[in-house]
Amino acid sequence: MKKRKIWVAGNWKMNHSVGETTQFFESLQSTFSANSSEESSLRTATLENRVSVALFPSMLSLSPAMNCVKGMKTSLSSIHIGSQNTHWETKGAFTGEVSGSQLRDLGVTLSLVGHSERRQYFGETNQTTKIRTESLLAQGFTVIHCIGETKEERLAGQTFSILKAQINEGLPESLTAETGSRLIIAYEPVWAIGTGLTATPEQAEEAHAEVRRLLSVRYGEAQANDMSVLYGGSVTPENFPTLLALPNVDGGLVGGASLKPDSFGKLVQMGCQA
Ligand code: 13P
Repeated sequence: MKKRKIWVAGNWKMNHSVGETTQFFESLQSTFSANSSEESSLRTATLENRVSVALFPSMLSLSPAMNCVKGMKTSLSSIHIGSQNTHWETKGAFTGEVSGSQLRDLGVTLSLVGHSERRQYFGETNQTTKIRTESLLAQGFTVIHCIGETKEERLAGQTFSILKAQINEGLPESLTAETGSRLIIAYEPVWAIGTGLTATPEQAEEAHAEVRRLLSVRYGEAQANDMSVLYGGSVTPENFPTLLALPNVDGGLVGGASLKPDSFGKLVQMGCQA
């Protein structure tokens, strides 16, 4: 049994219309019908507080997704719905952005921060991830903060120095036990995202162990030992059990394989059995 909370989180990126979002939840619900093995695994794992399941739909689908989850008759009603990105200010002249207080109004209190696609295409830096995460933690949100090196950085032997900069420059200086319990790290090697090239178990464990060591230098060993560090990058139902078995991997942040209810349902069940 894993010692830290396992997260099975699906990042839908810019996929699924509102109609497709509702259909996704309807099909997922039929897999998790009363008395199914999926339902009993998730019910037990949720009751024991071992697993959190989360989905990050597009901004337009947040409200419909919240309504679908509220209407679930099974333990799927415990799914957390989160935003893929959130601004650090609570309101103001920031065209195209969404604030934590607007999300909270919908009942959303979970957000990704610093996804590599935000870094690559939208100018996110370690400095902006820091103010987003600090602001969201102060507003009571749970944050999944993403880090990871590009292929060029890995080939140049810079993986550890990139992770160090992303952690030391991009995360809050200090955490309390309470804010620390709401901060989750996702290690997503950029070269593994959407490429089918999953990190090998050795590569994943090596990077996760280094992330935990860096967290322990920054926040102390006790805090670092409690923090969930998720792996992301071409996770599928085929490779998830091997990743989950690694000592420092505490779940997955999944793109492509979270878009279909059957593969997402399988990933949830694997998380519950880890
Ligand atoms: P894929 O699982 O499609 O590689 O995406 C990973 C990811 O970026 C999740 O945030």
